[in-house]
Amino acid sequence: ETASIAILPGDGIGPEVMNEAVLLLQEIEDYDRTFSCEMNEFPWNSAYYLEHGRMMPADGLAQLRSFDAILFGAMGDSSVPDEVTVWDFIMPIRKQFQQYINFRPVKKLEGIRSPLAESEDVDFVIIRENAEGEYSNSGGRLYDHTNEAMAIQNTIMTEKGIRRAADFAFQYAKEHGLPVTSATKSNAVIHSMKFWDEVVQKTAEAFPEIALEKIYVDALAAYFVQRPQSFGVVLASNLFGDILSDLGSALVGGLGISPSGNLNPSGDYPSMFEPVHGSAPDIAGQGIANPIAQIWSAALMLDHLGRKDLHDMVVTAIEKTLAEGYRTKDLGGEHSTKEMGEAIRANVRKQ
Ligand code: NAI
Ligand code: MG
Repeated sequence: ETASIAILPGDGIGPEVMNEAVLLLQEIEDYDRTFSCEMNEFPWNSAYYLEHGRMMPADGLAQLRSFDAILFGAMGDSSVPDEVTVWDFIMPIRKQFQQYINFRPVKKLEGIRSPLAESEDVDFVIIRENAEGEYSNSGGRLYDHTNEAMAIQNTIMTEKGIRRAADFAFQYAKEHGLPVTSATKSNAVIHSMKFWDEVVQKTAEAFPEIALEKIYVDALAAYFVQRPQSFGVVLASNLFGDILSDLGSALVGGLGISPSGNLNPSGDYPSMFEPVHGSAPDIAGQGIANPIAQIWSAALMLDHLGRKDLHDMVVTAIEKTLAEGYRTKDLGGEHSTKEMGEAIRANVRKQ
């Protein structure tokens, strides 16, 4: 059957890299007769906001609801405050569609050098709890009788929230034959992180064949650099996962090649796939952005739609393109966005 995909290019380099991802999906349709997709593009971005006073129409979420998946570029422009784009666009999508897993592959592609990780063999995934935890709007400011201020920021962790994230991590580990590492800090954060440890441990009981280690997040950050090859699945809370993900991205070559998925594992709502990077206003409009993160995000989407074969084919095409010497500026080369995109499509055709 035909997969329906909502395309949200966004701002800055978003439309530039999205263009290459859309051309790639069209190429795959031509190449593989068993795959077909229908793409609908939505012009919701900062320019739309300036014209209409909102990031998307009132029924925007209802419009997206019916799609099988959402492919997003990046959002952000100096003309609109960043908290508007985040809280009126990205957050409502993640929340409404219960995208409670943030999925980030940390895989060193052949031909990418990283000053942080010398080992060639870096290939793990970070599974970050994406819906609750440290990122809550519970809290506020209090003032004492001398008007000295105090800020309180509450972490909210529910048994259900932790369990479903842990369960996803263990399922993934089981399918791929990997160990699980849980990032914690229960020695110092004694209420929420102790609870996290307990629920993760309890969830692990259903997966006796999967090795589980619990590592304090500060030490884990060091181990990411010292022995990245030892990890399989890293399970982390919202804040810890956010920080570890950017370190992971730096380990394997940077923002230009880092993809992500915001997943609703139940399949009740569409999942959303997006590069880790933002709209990169400093290089927007020059045609030099690296399209790999966006194309790889599209590959994660294909995997989510049940086509792991097509995901693997795209990743192989990216690796072949790098092996041929194609490099955009962020990777130390001079190839344009379009040249990189076209070379990856050529390598899809050759497979
Ligand atoms: P950014 O990721 O846009 O840029 C950081 C640096 O990485 C810049 O030097 C940029 O040129 C470079 N870079 C990023 N993607 C690249 C690519 N594909 N190829 C080559 N170089 C690339 O982060 P920044 O500058 O902090 O934020 C810019 C805007 O993007 C802000 O408005 C921010 O709020 C927004 N943003 C949006 C995100 C989203 O839509 N999910 C995520 C992160 C930031
Ligand atoms: Mg982040």
